[in-house]
Amino acid sequence: MARLRYDWTASLTSVTTMETVMTYKSVVATKRGGPDALQIIENELRPPAAGEVRVKIQAVPVCQDDVAVRVGKRPFLPKLPFTPGYSILGLVDAVGEGVTGFAVGDRVAALTSFGGYAEMIYWPADKLVHIPASLDAAETVTLILNYLVAYQILHRVAQVKTGDKVLIIGASGGVGTAFLQLGQLAGLRMFGLASPGKHQTLMEYGAVPIDYHTQDFVEVIRQTEPDGLDFVFNGMGEEVFGRGLAVLRRGGRLIHYGGPESFGRFLLLVLKLIFYNLLPNGKKIVGYGTHRLGVELFQEDWTALFKLLEAGEIKPLIAAKFPILEARKANELLESGGVVGNIVLLSPELL
Ligand SMILES: NC(=O)c1ccc[n+]([C@@H]2O[C@H](COP(=O)([O-])OP(=O)(O)OC[C@H]3O[C@@H](n4cnc5c(N)ncnc54)[C@H](OP(=O)(O)O)[C@@H]3O)[C@@H](O)[C@H]2O)c1
Repeated sequence: MARLRYDWTASLTSVTTMETVMTYKSVVATKRGGPDALQIIENELRPPAAGEVRVKIQAVPVCQDDVAVRVGKRPFLPKLPFTPGYSILGLVDAVGEGVTGFAVGDRVAALTSFGGYAEMIYWPADKLVHIPASLDAAETVTLILNYLVAYQILHRVAQVKTGDKVLIIGASGGVGTAFLQLGQLAGLRMFGLASPGKHQTLMEYGAVPIDYHTQDFVEVIRQTEPDGLDFVFNGMGEEVFGRGLAVLRRGGRLIHYGGPESFGRFLLLVLKLIFYNLLPNGKKIVGYGTHRLGVELFQEDWTALFKLLEAGEIKPLIAAKFPILEARKANELLESGGVVGNIVLLSPELL
């Protein structure tokens, strides 16, 4: 009996039995905890189900939500073991029955929430988007979550105008640097909170950096902009709501997109949202989550972002690249806190 094992780079790698079993590798979180919870496992390759596409993954970013879910800092957690990986870009490897619009070899991407740290993923065809051949894989995959969040908050929720004054809380990470680039493009006057080693990057995008470790951002902003800001974009916790509102002008809005760390913090977030929005100060807090907007809007906004990337109007910051199966090292780097921009995992042929 020959047992044929599938290696995605070389196809047939070992022959031990007669039965043909093709496999692919993925990285799973085996427990709640540090990056050592991430282990490589082998999975049997199956044909895609009806309506499904099998994608050979080429690029997947490592983001804060991957870490938060692994360590258990989210109100709703997936059962263990699970494969992290919030968005992917890759090539269609096989299509299931009834799939139209996608063929083997097509370049595609998806917002997956889970499953991206793997050599293969099975995904519903109606949730995939085509990716132009000219775009760089590592840069493009950062558009699927980080830039989508910043773009939708700026243009769908806030509907910013040239000259609007904004504060970005958490300006140096994956979503934060997307805000900086898109904000600069939109002609915003930006303030950003970041650790001092990352201030140079903020200044390169025209933002005024504030070191939240040593400076009180309310004081700094009130001195420079006594009339107040139009918007605050908050990617951190709800503990900053009071001070965020304090720097807004009457009519200004704080848009909150940071994920709550526990069920208790989620309830606190909801209570604070209600409380602050009842205050008669003309200011509002609005919550944003990608799940709140439909897939049709994702497609439209991704298309707009692909065009900006193609035209060279945005250039995602890629701080580091790792092989997909070295996701553990990439997570260690993200958790070290020294990263400006994005970390991306890539398939071997793209490294
Ligand atoms: N709602 C949604 O749909 C959605 C989607 C994606 C992401 N998110 C949220 O967006 C946030 C950022 O995600 P990400 O993947 O971009 O993270 P990331 O790349 O790890 O960046 C986060 C950055 O925040 C900074 N930071 C940490 N504590 C801070 C504080 N107290 N005040 C200001 N800055 C602080 C850190 O940089 P410094 O060294 O400069 O402190 C860090 O680089 C997360 O809360 C995530 O849950 C939400």
